[in-house]
Amino acid sequence: MIVTTAQLFKHAYGKYAVGAYNINNAEQAMGLFRGCLQSQAPFIIQISKGARKYTDKRMLEAIIRAAEVLFPEAIYAVHLDHGDEETCYDCINSGFYSSVMIDASHEPFDKNVEITKRVVTAAHRKGISVEAELGMLGGVEEDIKVEEGNACLTKPEEAQKFIKLTGCDSLAAAIGTSHGAYKFKGRQSLHFEVLEGIKKLVPGYPIVMHGSSSVPQDEVQRINAAGGKLGTAVGVDINEYLPAAKLGVTKINIDTDGRLVWTRVHREFFRDKPAEFDFRPPGKIFMDEYAKFIASRNDKLGSSGQLADLRKSLGK
Ligand code: G3H
Ligand code: 13P
Ligand code: ZN
Repeated sequence: MIVTTAQLFKHAYGKYAVGAYNINNAEQAMGLFRGCLQSQAPFIIQISKGARKYTDKRMLEAIIRAAEVLFPEAIYAVHLDHGDEETCYDCINSGFYSSVMIDASHEPFDKNVEITKRVVTAAHRKGISVEAELGMLGGVEEDIKVEEGNACLTKPEEAQKFIKLTGCDSLAAAIGTSHGAYKFKGRQSLHFEVLEGIKKLVPGYPIVMHGSSSVPQDEVQRINAAGGKLGTAVGVDINEYLPAAKLGVTKINIDTDGRLVWTRVHREFFRDKPAEFDFRPPGKIFMDEYAKFIASRNDKLGSSGQLADLRKSLGK
């Protein structure tokens, strides 16, 4: 059942975070739905601009529609990840998306407000929620590269003002994370003080955490042992997901870790079976491994086991 992110956030706020996982193809979709049902967790499917272009945006929509039939028990929202204004309008008008993200965080504050406000007006007219971003994460966001030195944490007072001026429904706050597989050189902690500050000024408001992959070191080592050349870096500590959720983070975005699962499975498979050229055997292993990975992350987010209570609260 497709629901809105607002419905998911209302149930999750202050208790757990909903996992937001990116998909690009049928194998990822199968692993995602299976993993979320194994763990009985609600979830958010995220579609990036790159994912919409990879095969065709209609192909992804068809995959999700098919999954809806195959997994009638699942409860999830469909969300545009890191949209620009034009893509947001396309998704709003498609009638398929539950929510969109307008990412104008690279613009100065006033311009970010102006763009976000326009998207909020168009989305709310159709009952669609809007996630916006304030502050800058390091790393690459779609085609915009933010140098580490320019990444800046969200200021709670600015967040309060931004939310009031734009009417956005959730806010991606920069709390020290970055996108991709190269986040931190040594162990680092999330900036919980930013979350505490926002919670104090805007109680009950849903915050989104981007760049939340943990970059598991055993995964990186297995990839490199099978011919990969990934550098050493660590990601977010998965034991910090739940403390962040208790401070108002209702959506936690994880994409890179899933790509690492895919890379490890395929590199190991073809290393061990060099004469093989059928992609379905490793594809099947990937779907199983991805489902296991998703369920393990839902356990850490606290979303595992929430499906029955959520269904009851939705009156379904
Ligand atoms: O934040 C970006 C997500 O990981 C999506 O990545 O734009 O390469 O699809 P993508
Ligand atoms: P990761 O690169 O840490 O998986 O972050 C994904 C993300 O924030 C998608 O919007
Ligand atoms: Zn992101």
